[in-house]
Amino acid sequence: MDKLLIAGGIPLSGEVAISGAKNAALPLLCAALLTKEPVTFTNVPHLNDIGTMLKLLAQMGVKVSRETSRICAGDAPKEVPLGDTVTLDASGLNNAVAPYEMVKTMRASILVLGPLLARAGEARVSLPGGCAIGARPVDQHIKGLTAMGAEVGVEQGYVHARATRLKGARLFTDMVTVTGTENLMMAACLAQGETVIENAAREPEVVDLANCLVAMGARISGAGGDVIRIQGVDALHGATHRIMPDRIETGTYLCAAAATGGAIRLTGASATSLDAVIDKLMDTGCDIVAERDAIRIKAPRRLAAVSIRTAPYPAFPTDMQAQFMAINAVADGTAVMRETIFENRFMHAVELIRLGADIKIDGNTAFVTGRPKLDGATVMATDLRASASLVIAGLVAQGETLIERIYHLDRGYEGLEKKLAALGADIRRVK
Ligand code: UD1
Repeated sequence: MDKLLIAGGIPLSGEVAISGAKNAALPLLCAALLTKEPVTFTNVPHLNDIGTMLKLLAQMGVKVSRETSRICAGDAPKEVPLGDTVTLDASGLNNAVAPYEMVKTMRASILVLGPLLARAGEARVSLPGGCAIGARPVDQHIKGLTAMGAEVGVEQGYVHARATRLKGARLFTDMVTVTGTENLMMAACLAQGETVIENAAREPEVVDLANCLVAMGARISGAGGDVIRIQGVDALHGATHRIMPDRIETGTYLCAAAATGGAIRLTGASATSLDAVIDKLMDTGCDIVAERDAIRIKAPRRLAAVSIRTAPYPAFPTDMQAQFMAINAVADGTAVMRETIFENRFMHAVELIRLGADIKIDGNTAFVTGRPKLDGATVMATDLRASASLVIAGLVAQGETLIERIYHLDRGYEGLEKKLAALGADIRRVK
């Protein structure tokens, strides 16, 4: 299994391009299930999670067109995606089942539930797996679809939902849920009458999805706020949609530059969806300049520790908590980091401690006291964003850091080691 070997201590410098957003692309690809006409997406990132979603859709009868090239790596020839355009044609949708084997690696597979049910009148979706960052139930998705008139049961590990035609309803989720909001918004597009989603997630990825659905003929207002209104229509049509830049990838590179005392420019990036992250980076002492489609950062010689509390957008994102823990591990002072979204999202802390970090955990709070230096060691990636924090720590640490289980990184960071190498890092993939 591949590992990452990093020789730390080099300040990052130069320029890299940010990819399309994984968390926008996943629901968008599922939205193609809602219509018989082809939907084309550009700026689709090359990620394992995207490959998994495309396979899942293909086995439902969706025609997937993506330019690929066949390469021979050792004994195993494999298809490598070229370009960033994917066209999906769900006119031949013939299997409304998302099997366990495909769903277990990626929780976002639950996003097929709403569109499948709305379009095919039935869906069987295995309960999801994905990152090991807590229980992460899907009860809110089920509650919403039930309120829209679906009959939903959980049988042998599968959510089984049926409805001749969904009916518009007033929906209220117990907590803010991103994929829950997306699932219900997609389902409501083809429901009869008006659906109102209260306590909706305001994440930019929800807005990106709504924009695409509107381009497909949906009638949606309020996305980006906490009340979304959807007037159901009889059918949606094809469209072309460019996926928004990945704000978490952007934030991760900003953190890597900050931690290494570097100065970099990220192109194809948007600062507008990153206010909370940029604010905190400025509090560490970094200089940040937002350009039209790019962001520049210049780090001070030593960062100041910053306390954070994760919460739904527009507050500080849970998906950036681990990367900030790496920053705080080498900053001046003590930071209090509170995780309010997921109950088991400090798994990177024990690995950072192996690199010499001073971290104490008490329930959902981490106390991180910065050290002037970290020391390279062998560490293990436990989930997607945890692995990103280990990469950042490895870039700072003296000597070599070997990161195991980097398949987690391949789920969410396109060409990570190539991009970091382009910024001057000494990083390579080893067996
Ligand atoms: C999405 C993101 C993920 C991010 C998370 C929070 C995608 C593909 N993934 O995940 O990267 O970390 O938002 O910003 O967009 N919950 C329930 N019942 C439900 C649904 C959620 O109890 O039915 C709970 C979860 O366990 C969690 C909280 O609500 O504690 C928020 O989860 P949610 O926003 O749903 O996360 P995801 O949409 O899975």
